[in-house]
Amino acid sequence: MRGIVYTGEGVEVTDELGVREPGPGEVRVRIAAAGVCHSDLSLIDGTIPFPAPTVMGHEGAGIVESVGSEVTSVQPGDHVVIATLASCGACRACSTGHPSWCRSSLGALSTPFTYKGEPASNFAATSVFVEATVVSEVQAIRIPEEVPLTSACLIGCGVLTGVGAVLNRAKVRPGETAAVFGVGGVGLNVIQGLRISGATRIVAVDTVAAKESLARQFGATHFVDASSGDAAAAVRALTPANRDSAAGALFPLGGVTWAFDCVGHPEVLRAALDCLDWGGTAVAIGIPPRGTEVPVDVNALAYVDRGLLGCRYGSARPHHDIPLMVDLYFSGQLMLDELVSLTRPLHRFGEVVEAMRAGQVARGVLTFD
Ligand SMILES: NC(=O)c1ccc[n+]([C@@H]2O[C@H](COP(=O)([O-])OP(=O)(O)OC[C@H]3O[C@@H](n4cnc5c(N)ncnc54)[C@H](O)[C@@H]3O)[C@@H](O)[C@H]2O)c1
Ligand SMILES: [Zn+2]
Ligand SMILES: [Zn+2]
Repeated sequence: MRGIVYTGEGVEVTDELGVREPGPGEVRVRIAAAGVCHSDLSLIDGTIPFPAPTVMGHEGAGIVESVGSEVTSVQPGDHVVIATLASCGACRACSTGHPSWCRSSLGALSTPFTYKGEPASNFAATSVFVEATVVSEVQAIRIPEEVPLTSACLIGCGVLTGVGAVLNRAKVRPGETAAVFGVGGVGLNVIQGLRISGATRIVAVDTVAAKESLARQFGATHFVDASSGDAAAAVRALTPANRDSAAGALFPLGGVTWAFDCVGHPEVLRAALDCLDWGGTAVAIGIPPRGTEVPVDVNALAYVDRGLLGCRYGSARPHHDIPLMVDLYFSGQLMLDELVSLTRPLHRFGEVVEAMRAGQVARGVLTFD
C-alpha cells in the first residue's frame, strides 16, 4: 500500500505499507483526499516530537471500506470525515461534552500499520497520507456524498480547529473585534468563523503581504503586514478606543476583543496579548516547540480583565461540529472549496510543503488517483 512515512530522519513516499483489518469497534477507511496541516511539517522538523516510524497526515476524508463487528454508526460505502479525537466516550470529559479533554484523546499511540514488515504507528490517532487507515468508530463521521471529499478532508483539522476556536472556545458575539495572526489553513478558518459569528472588525496579520487578498476573501476587514514593523501597534491603530481614553493612561484603551495566534511563535503570542483591549482575550492555537514560554505582564491582565486561553482542535465535539460545518457549507456561509488552493497526487507531497513554506497556499490537498 502507498503512503508517506516519517522515518525519524526524514520523509519517505513508499509503497511498502500494510494496515490491519479493523478490530470490533474500529473502521477501515479508504482515503480519498488529505489536507496538509502545518502540524505535519512540525512532525518533520521536530517541533512536535513523535516516535518513528509513523504514517503521516491527520486531516482526511474517504469512504468506509470495512467495519468491525460492534460498529453501528457507519457502514461500507459511507463517506466520512476522520476526526483526530479517539475519545473514549465514557469518561467525565466525554460525558460533559469535552472530548478534547479526554485522556484517551491525546498521546495514545497505536500501531495499525506495518512499514517494510515492521510495526509503524499512526500519527494523531489518524494517519491519512496513506491509501487506507484504521480508526475507532467515534472518529469516522458520516457526511453527505454531495460534499466533494477533496474539500471535506479539510474539516478534519483546519476547519474544526479554526472555526471551533471561535464558536466553541471564544464564543465570539456579534459586534466584537478580532485580530488573527497567521493567514494559513487554520487562520483562514478563524477568519471565517469570526465572519459567521458577526464580528465586525477582523484584522488579519501575516508576514506574507500576498496573503491579504485571501484573508479578505474569507472575511477579514483589514490586513497588517507583520514583516514591516510592530504588528500589535498596527492592530491597535485599526481598533481605536470607542470610549473616553483619559482613564486609560496606565493601560491604554482600544485594541481588539479577541486575538488568535495561528502561528505558534512566542513573539506572535506576545503580540496577540499586546493588541488586546481591556477585557480582551488571546487564544493560543499555534504549536511552538515543547517548553516554549512567553513573558506576560500580569498587571496588564489582572487590572483590566484580559485573558489567555489555549485551544486544541477547536474544542470540537466532532459528532456535533462536523455536521454543523457541512450545514454551514451547504448554506453558503462556510467556504470549503475555496480553501483548496493546490491539489497534488500523494507522491508530489514535497511540492505542497514547498508552497506552504513559501506562503503560497490556503491549503494543499493530496489525492490518491
Ligand atoms: N491547537 C490545535 O489544535 C492545532 C490544530 C492545527 C494546527 N495547529 C497549529 O496551528 C499553526 C498554524 O497551522 P496552519 O496549518 O494554519 O499553518 P500554515 O503553514 O498553513 O500557515 C501559517 C501562516 O502563518 C504565517 N506566519 C508565519 N510567521 C508569522 C508571523 N511571525 N506573524 C504572522 N504570520 C506569520 C505564514 O505566512 C502562514 O501564512 C501551526 O503551529 C500548527 O501546528 C494547532
Ligand atoms: Zn492539523
Ligand atoms: Zn473520554
